[in-house]
Formats: sequence, structure tokens, C-alpha cells
Amino acid sequence: MFAASAADRGFFSDVIAMAPMALGGNLPYRRLCREFGADLTCSEMVVADKLVKGGERALLRHHPTEDRFGVQLCGKHAETLAEGARIAVDRGARFIDLNFGCPIDLIVSRGGGAALLKRPRKLAELVAAVRAAVDVPLSVKIRSGYSEDRLNAVEVAVLAAAAGADAIAVHGRTRAQRYKRSADWRIVAEVATAIDVPVLGNGDLLTPWDLARRRAETPVRSFLIARGCLIKPWVFREMREGRPWYPTVAERWAIMRRYLDYALEHLGDDGKGRERARRFVIWHLHFWHRWRPYTEADFHAHLPESLIQKREDPAAGDPEAALLASADEADHERIWNRLVDGDFPGA
Ligand SMILES: Cc1cc2nc3c(=O)[nH]c(=O)nc-3n(C[C@H](O)[C@H](O)[C@H](O)COP(=O)(O)O)c2cc1C
Repeated sequence: MFAASAADRGFFSDVIAMAPMALGGNLPYRRLCREFGADLTCSEMVVADKLVKGGERALLRHHPTEDRFGVQLCGKHAETLAEGARIAVDRGARFIDLNFGCPIDLIVSRGGGAALLKRPRKLAELVAAVRAAVDVPLSVKIRSGYSEDRLNAVEVAVLAAAAGADAIAVHGRTRAQRYKRSADWRIVAEVATAIDVPVLGNGDLLTPWDLARRRAETPVRSFLIARGCLIKPWVFREMREGRPWYPTVAERWAIMRRYLDYALEHLGDDGKGRERARRFVIWHLHFWHRWRPYTEADFHAHLPESLIQKREDPAAGDPEAALLASADEADHERIWNRLVDGDFPGA
């Protein structure tokens, strides 16, 4: 077995990280989240089999400001995961994350992603193979279990840590749960108690009070945020400062425009680049429109659920705020056009 080094464990200690996300973890968006204080950023999921055959290369790119950027690999063959990790590190990955939580049918039916939670020993062999192949910090992302009757995150985490993982990211849901119910942080806490490498707690972190609650109720000290930063990239600033930030309408437009500028810089400011940027902005608006200026009283009123589980109608009153809160796709197109034209408050 390979013991994790203290330095590599330290890499994942006391961090607030942007979770790996397909689409959401695009380079321009990671750049924005990094500016707002994400300690670690991570690539979208990279399929190791494709990577070793020469594909997926665009997903390995990162922005210079992402000084702790990692690449997430998914696969079920030791050799391809090890080779994929070498390729990623050669191209600048500062850490590797292995995805054993992916719920997608196409991946799971072939024995990858969350399917490996059912085979903890095989999973540990894969961790050991990657550990032996690269000497950057290595994290492993798991779920509470494959299904309700197989909540084996503790067993999986103990084996993965013994096989050389420097940190375990635990999303407190099973493969089957999707987002209907709240994440189960009892299991996240159990894992943190059972192993002596950092645990990155993951699930439903939206407000600074969510983080304070998890810090108070569990031994978890590192955190991973996914939908929270898709709704508001400034979530990292709020988490660091321990207090909410309520941007004005003009500030929100400015942040969206900054994202557009980063997207055009990355994708190219020509017809093709603009069309791709448009698709990304429209995609992000499905999350951005969900932002609401929640207060600590709202947080307490909604316990034990996180406010991320709440669904609300668009805000009434100020038409500009109502537009930004609209779920209507026609409104999202309007926002896109106004972003491009510079036709917004404060522009
Ligand atoms: C749009 C989207 C894409 C995601 N893609 C990935 C992925 O590629 N790899 C991964 O490990 N998890 C992925 N996830 C799961 C998140 O990393 C995270 O575990 C989950 O959303 C729970 O965290 P949250 O409650 O903060 O959203 C994705 C989540 C979202 C919302």
C-alpha cells in the first residue's frame, strides 16, 4: 500500500473547492470562481479511455490564474487511468481526482463511475495504480453508496485512503437519489471520523450558514461546492468571509458580462466563438436565475433542508430584478442580447 504524504494531504486541508462539473466547470467559469476565491478548481470529467486515445485534450486546459487546477478522470482500467493521469500531469494538472460517483447510465452500465462503489477492492486497485503513476496530490470522489441498501462510503473511503488517496470527496447521496432529497451529511461525517486524510464534504452548500452548520455539526474541514457556485460564483467569497453578499442588479449584470468576456477570450471572438459563448451563457442562466437574496432568518426557517432545495417564483417589483430571476427561456435570450449590446444598468 502507498501512504499519502503529509504535503499532499495538506493540499486538501481547509479548502473550499469548486466541484468537478460537466459543462458547469468550463474554463471561463472556473476563472470567475477562482477570482471569487475558490481554492481549488477542477476540470470537467475526462474519460480516461478517450484521453489515452488522443481525445478530450481541450478539457485539460486551464487558465493561468487557476494555480491549483486538477483533472478529474473516470475509468475502470488501471492502465488507462494511470496513463491518463500521466498525460494530465504532463499538461499542467496540479492534482488528479478520480470519479467514482458518476451516476450516468452510459458510464455505470459499463462498470465505471458509481458502479465501482459496488466493488471497493477493485476501486482501491485503481487508486493504487494512479498513486504509483504520478506524484501529484490525489483525491477520490465518492457518494454515500450505490443505493440506499448499500451505504458503504466508510468502507470505500478507508480502502481508498489506504491505497494512497490524499483526500476523499464525499457527496452525501446515493447514485439513485439525484437531487430530490437533501444530502446526508451524517455519512460524510462518519467518513471524516473513520479516516485520517482530509474529507471534502459535498452536498447542498449554498449560503455561509450552510457551511457554518456543517463545520459545527461534523469534523469536516474542507468543502466542495457545485450547484451553489453555478447559482452564484461569489459563493466562495461568502464562504470565506462567513457573511452573505447581496450584489446589486448592476453588479450582477457586470459579473455576467465578465463571464461573457472570459468566454469570448477562450472560445474566440468570431462568429463561431460567439455562438458557443451564447450557448454557455444560456446554459448558465438556468442556474443564475435561481439566485435570491436569502437572509439568515430564511436559512433557519427552512432547516433542516438547505435553501438550495427551495423553488420560488420570480421576484415581483423591480422589473430588472424580475428579469434576472425569470426562468423563461425568452427572457434568457433577452439577457443574452443585452449582454452582447452592453445594454444593461451600469454598462
Ligand atoms: C451540471 C453538473 C455537472 C456535474 N458533473 C460532474 C462531473 O463531471 N463529475 C463529478 O464528479 N460530479 C459532477 N457533478 C456533481 C457535483 O460535483 C456534486 O457532487 C453534486 O452536484 C453535489 O454538490 P452540490 O449539492 O453542491 O451541487 C455535477 C453536478 C452538476 C450540477
